[in-house]
Amino acid sequence: MSKFLSFASVCALGAAFAFVVAPGHLQSQEAPPAGAPPKSPWVEGSDSRPAEQAYMNIKVFTGLPANRLEFIMKSWKDSLGVQCTFCHIKDEWERDDKEEKETARHMKKMTDAIVATHFDGKREVTCYTCHHGEKKPAKNPPPAAPVKRQPRPVQPGAGL
Ligand code: HEC
Ligand code: HEC
Repeated sequence: MSKFLSFASVCALGAAFAFVVAPGHLQSQEAPPAGAPPKSPWVEGSDSRPAEQAYMNIKVFTGLPANRLEFIMKSWKDSLGVQCTFCHIKDEWERDDKEEKETARHMKKMTDAIVATHFDGKREVTCYTCHHGEKKPAKNPPPAAPVKRQPRPVQPGAGL
């Protein structure tokens, strides 16, 4: 009998453990259930509220319709030839831990200023104009390929 009781109490403990601990454990892992679609970073395509209302940490894109941020982020990624995680911590897009993210804000203000001051507000200069798919734009042209010079043809009788 006492053997049976201890077996029962172990079962009860086990069940209690599963109930109390398991859900908390699952939550703290934050892993999406297998087969679930990955969480989108973006607002709904119809969401045209100002970006600062729809997103958590907007400083330079204030007033931009929120549904346009996706296009801009993708073009920044391609303009610099990097992944999103060059500026961001994956899935925690609002965080400012990376220096590159702050540099990008600075670059955005600089590009706006160039456009406003020198191109009548027309978007003639973009990130790509300088970056061309590189993190750091090249400062100088690449060294010219060596030119193989042809010997100059000698005119018969000239100066000989
Ligand atoms: C060159 C750096 C850079 C790259 C690359 C980049 N981002 Fe961003 N991202 C930023 C900056 C800067 C902001 C903040 C803009 C502001 O302050 O208005 C931002 C903001 C965001 C936000 C809004 C977060 C919030 O809630 O405040 C999301 C979402 C986001 N980025 C996703 C992405 C994704 C996804 C990619 C890749 C497709 C990407 N970004 C590529 C620099 C970058
Ligand atoms: C007028 C030219 C020019 C434009 C336009 C420009 N950049 Fe840059 N950017 C540079 C230069 C030059 C550097 C490298 C500075 C250095 O070597 O320290 C740089 C560096 C950066 C870096 C740091 C890269 C690293 O390796 O740490 C980021 C991020 C960046 N730019 C983002 C942008 C974004 C986003 C845009 C568009 C909003 C943009 N830039 C537009 C010239 C430009």
